[in-house]
Amino acid sequence: MDPLHFEWMHMNWSVRLKDKGGPYSPRHLKLAFEEFDYGIVYRRIREGMSEEDPMWKVGRVCLWPNALFTGDHFEWRVPIDDENTLSVTWCFSRVPKGREPYVQEQIPAWRGPVRDADTGRLISSHVMNQDFVAWVGQGVIPDRTHEHLGTSDTGIIMMRQRFLKDIEAIARGEDPKATVRDPELNRCLTLPIAERKNLVEGLTLEELAKHPLGSGQLNDYVFRPASPQRFARHTRKPWASPSECDLIVAKKKITRDRKPGYLRIATEEAFAPPELLARWKAIIERGGNLDPGFVDQWGYFLGQSPRALGIASRLQDIGEQRIRDMDSTGIARQILSLTNPGVQIFDAATGAALAISCNDQLAEAIGKHPDRSPALQRSRRRIPRLRRRNSTAECGNWG
Ligand SMILES: [Fe+2]
Repeated sequence: MDPLHFEWMHMNWSVRLKDKGGPYSPRHLKLAFEEFDYGIVYRRIREGMSEEDPMWKVGRVCLWPNALFTGDHFEWRVPIDDENTLSVTWCFSRVPKGREPYVQEQIPAWRGPVRDADTGRLISSHVMNQDFVAWVGQGVIPDRTHEHLGTSDTGIIMMRQRFLKDIEAIARGEDPKATVRDPELNRCLTLPIAERKNLVEGLTLEELAKHPLGSGQLNDYVFRPASPQRFARHTRKPWASPSECDLIVAKKKITRDRKPGYLRIATEEAFAPPELLARWKAIIERGGNLDPGFVDQWGYFLGQSPRALGIASRLQDIGEQRIRDMDSTGIARQILSLTNPGVQIFDAATGAALAISCNDQLAEAIGKHPDRSPALQRSRRRIPRLRRRNSTAECGNWG
């Protein structure tokens, strides 16, 4: 309901989080608000836009009484009690042109964290979390009598006036706004959608990569963080291979950065040799009392879907293909380590033997390209101590 917050809360803040000297985003020049049957539409013109832009001609929808609707996602804000609000998001990603038909095997769902587990601070890296910071930052129950509304808050005034009218209507025994009782009408309500053409007809993968909003979601979910085990699974787009997403996004970043003269170092690159993946797969197939995160993550990545096969293939490669990928994405050096859970899930003897094998393979790969892949390895000197302790829990971070 506050279009202007987008400029500051999301655009300028996100840029500053990455680069304190970054540029300001285009300013809002013109705003308009208007009620319709199912809510309030807000329209905006920012610097560089004309009145032909869909964000002005069509606008965005505040779906009455408590949702944002953008065409590809809803956000419902549900009051739980006087001091807490539940935020529920439903979203979809249009399959790109040329990648249809695509059959989705599963609809992912997760609870996004609000606070950083280590620091307790509110997370500010993702779009919806930035909104949460604004909400929580006002205090549990803000004193609205001290508020100073500006002209860009016209929508907020309209919303409050409508709430007061609804309260009066309900007191009279009438329906509040946007109550639909006609079963036929309720089958499909048509709402304004600024990006309707793109969402209905679709964009090619290449067009999506150039789209100002779509590109950010190619190998990330910019709105909410997900739990680490589920992150890749939920944010990667299954209709594109991981390497396609990586290459498109990396090329876009390289083009955007335009800062030659420094080394781009990838600090969290992973590998897993074939024998380790085979052992993990056998453990999952054998079943039993296993860690749910391990089963969830590797049950998927060791499956037979095109995405899983593509990821597993690249994880196992620490040779020429990896160097080619680095070259094509502008990565000068990588810090390579064994991916989780490494050898920690095995008994001490097996884990130690596998760690030696993994280290040897890493050493051989690094020897071929010493200027490209420094790696994190555990010294073999630890292994006898681990054997003595005979505890898989003591194996530590081999990767
Ligand atoms: Fe927002």
